[in-house]
Amino acid sequence: MTRKVTKAIFPVAGLGTRFLPATKSVPKEIMTLVDRPLIQYAIDEARAAGIKEFIFVTSRGKGALEDYFDHAPQLEMELAQKGKTELLDTLKNTNMESGAVAYVRQHKPKGLGHAVWCARRLVGDEPVAVLLPDDVIAAETPCLKQMVEAYAETGGNMVAAMEVPAAKTSSYGVLDVAEDMGHMVSVKGMVEKPKPGTAPSNLAVIGRYILAPQVLDNLDSTQAGAGGEIQLTDAIAKEIGANNNVYGYRFRGQRFDCGSKAGFLQATVSFGLAREDLRDDLSQFLQDIAISQQAAE
Ligand code: UTP
Repeated sequence: MTRKVTKAIFPVAGLGTRFLPATKSVPKEIMTLVDRPLIQYAIDEARAAGIKEFIFVTSRGKGALEDYFDHAPQLEMELAQKGKTELLDTLKNTNMESGAVAYVRQHKPKGLGHAVWCARRLVGDEPVAVLLPDDVIAAETPCLKQMVEAYAETGGNMVAAMEVPAAKTSSYGVLDVAEDMGHMVSVKGMVEKPKPGTAPSNLAVIGRYILAPQVLDNLDSTQAGAGGEIQLTDAIAKEIGANNNVYGYRFRGQRFDCGSKAGFLQATVSFGLAREDLRDDLSQFLQDIAISQQAAE
């Protein structure tokens, strides 16, 4: 029987250079979509998928992130005194059970594969989910929950996958598909950031993974790959035909690349429009902009 996935790694040690100067002092993962920081979306998704232990791979300057999950006694007391129960409830979501969160430090930003490897001792001999908080996925059933349910049937390793235009494949890890089963594919190869025109398919890996513990062992011996970094994709690809199968899961939902400015802005608008308390004002504003732009053309 496939083991239940109860641990998740959140690699949050990146420099976030695409958001400088903001990320000089604010961790990217604390930047807010509407009123919740990016990391909260990832945590909520993990909780919905049954994750009980949360492992953050952090780095220098990420203190605000650690504080975010602490209780805030002074603030909570003041809100309670003022009878602001709704806001108190909002804060509850940010509190983590003692012992449920672990922080491990990545001392140098040597890439995603290295960040995941830094968490190896906390993972042990069981499958683990990895969530990149910059990939925010709006979905009726949270993406990781969809994957955990599919993984219960398949075991092995699973990566979230989505079709991207051919011109964009060189920005992603890309799957070489063995068999296409519709919502899922089995994988015979994976290429990190293929050179233009060489991608084996249009199916790109995005930031949700369920990994067998062997992948963390593989990271130990994986040489630096594309961009001179230790690539998670390469360590997963080593499992193909060795110990575990690798599956690409076509999730149902819309992914926003909040690691890029354009993606972040799109997510802000989309999540704003999804909120009942903001929808009317925001859509009116967007319509007004569109009209005045058309008039100017
Ligand atoms: P990115 O590739 O987006 O890199 O990382 P970045 O440093 O965060 O951002 P830019 O490109 O400089 O703007 C994808 C994920 O992997 C984590 C990041 O925190 C992010 O969640 N990461 C990346 C690490 O934890 N360590 C690293 O060395 C690199």
